[in-house]
Amino acid sequence: MNAPIGTGEKRVEARDKVTGQAQYAADFNQPGQAYAVIVGSTIGFGHITSIDSNELLQLPGIVAVISHENAPRLAYGPHKGFIDPAVGERLHVFQDDAVRFFGQPVAVVVADTLDCAERGALALRIHYAAQQPVVAMHDARAEAVVPQAQSGGQADRFRGDADVELARAPVRIDAQYVITRENHTPIEVHATVAQWKGDRLTLWSKSQYVVNEQAELAAVFGLPAENVRVICPFIGGAFGTSLRSWPHVTVAAIAAKQTQRPVKLVLSRRQTFHMTGHRPRTTQRIALGAMPDGRLHCLIHEGTGETSRHEEFTEALTSATHYMYACPNVRTAYRLLPLDVGTPTYMRAPGEASGIFALESAMDELAYQLSLDPLELRLRNEPKIDEGTNLPFSSRSMIECYELGSKRFGWSQRKFAPGSMRDGRLLLGWGMASATYPVFFAPASACARIVGDGTIEVEAATSDMGPGTYTSMTQVAAEVLGVPMTQVRFRLGTSDYPPTPPHGGSMTMASVGSAVRAACLALQDQIAKRLTANRSSPLFGVPPDELEWSDGRIRRRGQGDAALSYREVLAKSGGKPMEAVATGSRDPSIVEKYSMHAFGAVFVEITVDPDVRTVSVRRVVGAYAAGRIVNPRLARSQCIGGMVGGIGMALMESTSLDPRDGRPVNAHMADYLVPVNLDIGTLEPHLVDEEDPYVNPLGVKGIGEIALVGVAPAIANAVFHATGKRVRHLPIRIESLLEE
Ligand code: MOS
Repeated sequence: MNAPIGTGEKRVEARDKVTGQAQYAADFNQPGQAYAVIVGSTIGFGHITSIDSNELLQLPGIVAVISHENAPRLAYGPHKGFIDPAVGERLHVFQDDAVRFFGQPVAVVVADTLDCAERGALALRIHYAAQQPVVAMHDARAEAVVPQAQSGGQADRFRGDADVELARAPVRIDAQYVITRENHTPIEVHATVAQWKGDRLTLWSKSQYVVNEQAELAAVFGLPAENVRVICPFIGGAFGTSLRSWPHVTVAAIAAKQTQRPVKLVLSRRQTFHMTGHRPRTTQRIALGAMPDGRLHCLIHEGTGETSRHEEFTEALTSATHYMYACPNVRTAYRLLPLDVGTPTYMRAPGEASGIFALESAMDELAYQLSLDPLELRLRNEPKIDEGTNLPFSSRSMIECYELGSKRFGWSQRKFAPGSMRDGRLLLGWGMASATYPVFFAPASACARIVGDGTIEVEAATSDMGPGTYTSMTQVAAEVLGVPMTQVRFRLGTSDYPPTPPHGGSMTMASVGSAVRAACLALQDQIAKRLTANRSSPLFGVPPDELEWSDGRIRRRGQGDAALSYREVLAKSGGKPMEAVATGSRDPSIVEKYSMHAFGAVFVEITVDPDVRTVSVRRVVGAYAAGRIVNPRLARSQCIGGMVGGIGMALMESTSLDPRDGRPVNAHMADYLVPVNLDIGTLEPHLVDEEDPYVNPLGVKGIGEIALVGVAPAIANAVFHATGKRVRHLPIRIESLLEE
């Protein structure tokens, strides 16, 4: 009966969420709590000359005004977590008078009530000596640099000689693609409640990576890590913005320390645009040279992304270009443009989402130049191995994705010529793109134990920002131990639990899932040893591999009567707790043997109003091959979310900066547009069966991010199909289609 892996179980935490029992960071309160509101700089570059806080401090309810003038000097010890830039130094809060970007925290007002703190923050007068920041990608003073971190996707790479071959190629495309800045805009804004007891700090804080927040705050305050606890049981969306610990977390801790009270700090929506990262703006060049039959002969991908001046944020902008298609001559280069802005960060399929937009747009351009069906062009360039590394793919079901997606979409009915399909007065556009995302895996640990009534408790320090970690991990534990899901209680989101990698990069199921599996197997091993070695046990002397674990009971295979429940197991061992901690691992040399990626194909139908040039997405059909799917219901939900993010990227999302000071001018949900139900039409994800014995013990590749990749280029390609107009920048808006 027990095979919860692979079934579409409903979310185990659903009831808690819909009844308001689930507690998000800002829902936590501590006795005697004060409220903190950050004051951000109103200049984009320069320094603070003075702060007038005396008057403010006289007002009733105001507890403290903290800035570089009176803040404690903090240790800011070295700490670079998995997701922190390898080069550069994080912003030090309130340690000097320098302003590096617009909205940088320069002071915090602490008050008895939120209302009072907000009014105080508005009233605080700060004087600046302002200089002109460099914030535009095309600013002549900005100079692109080679990333200092020369690892993996960041390094320049080549095979053959793409530049020489380009000049000789019979068919050529050479184009520039531009993507605007995007912000993550999850529903839940960043929040931290900080409380000190002596030199021990507890943070109830929105985080996708609680053990990293623990390590970071410990380093900032010069404390041993065990003095800091981070608690975050629920996240209302994050998409990468809560992977790092941004300055507001430190501000909350400073405020609590200075006032000797617990402090709650919640960023305003506007402030989340200032200091919690964003998808970097990019400019990219793709040059393709092909044979007349469409086979790629050379491929050049040059990309530049923005970063801050104090840190070097890099993402895998050009990585996929090396393995997506068969091509003998490939060259990629990645540059950074340091600007007077806050540091960008990972956002929804970082790197691939942007890089694949350029590559897949260019492939569509090539298809038209060759008068070849865009899908046929891809089929002709399907590689046998990863030609970038010369490694075989652990699995690559790209063809299956093309076939399934195109069939479900009805691609064979497409008319090739731009502007040739209509629905009444509306122009109809059908476009497609390929998608890919790497299979990431990092060691994670988990703990599994049996408690009094036979419940299996499983714990890991991971997060659930919406993909369904609570549910999928419960499934893994239930399957290994042969118990119903209701008998498992999975807990996450505190730094007290066994450490896990960031809840991002689509690696939670693979990494934490493998850890949960390992912990449950270790617990099973312990139980088996005890039962088979205990003379009073009905399973005494049974070889452990003859034990069967199902229906919540343990028995000798094929012998139904002498079955023990987990509660009885515990009782039989004299009530001694049974607990196992284990780390999920895979053969580390696997990365040298196989190229490991998920693949997908996206087909979209859009309409364009010929008069007002509005683009509407009617249908998105995506087919994804991502290894084993632990829960198809949750996986489909992930895909739908990714598709919506892709539509936002294609048609709406754009953070506009005031060129004078770098101020994000549309830093609120009224003007930063994201898709709503009316904008998205029908979303149809399909999951291709794929068994991959290599990627990790669970055979899971991860599905969270690949479903965003490919949507934006498929839409841009559909816009071309509808209108004959090639738009090479995102987002594509009405004005993009009005320009000549
Ligand atoms: Mo995701 S950008 O890895 O949270």
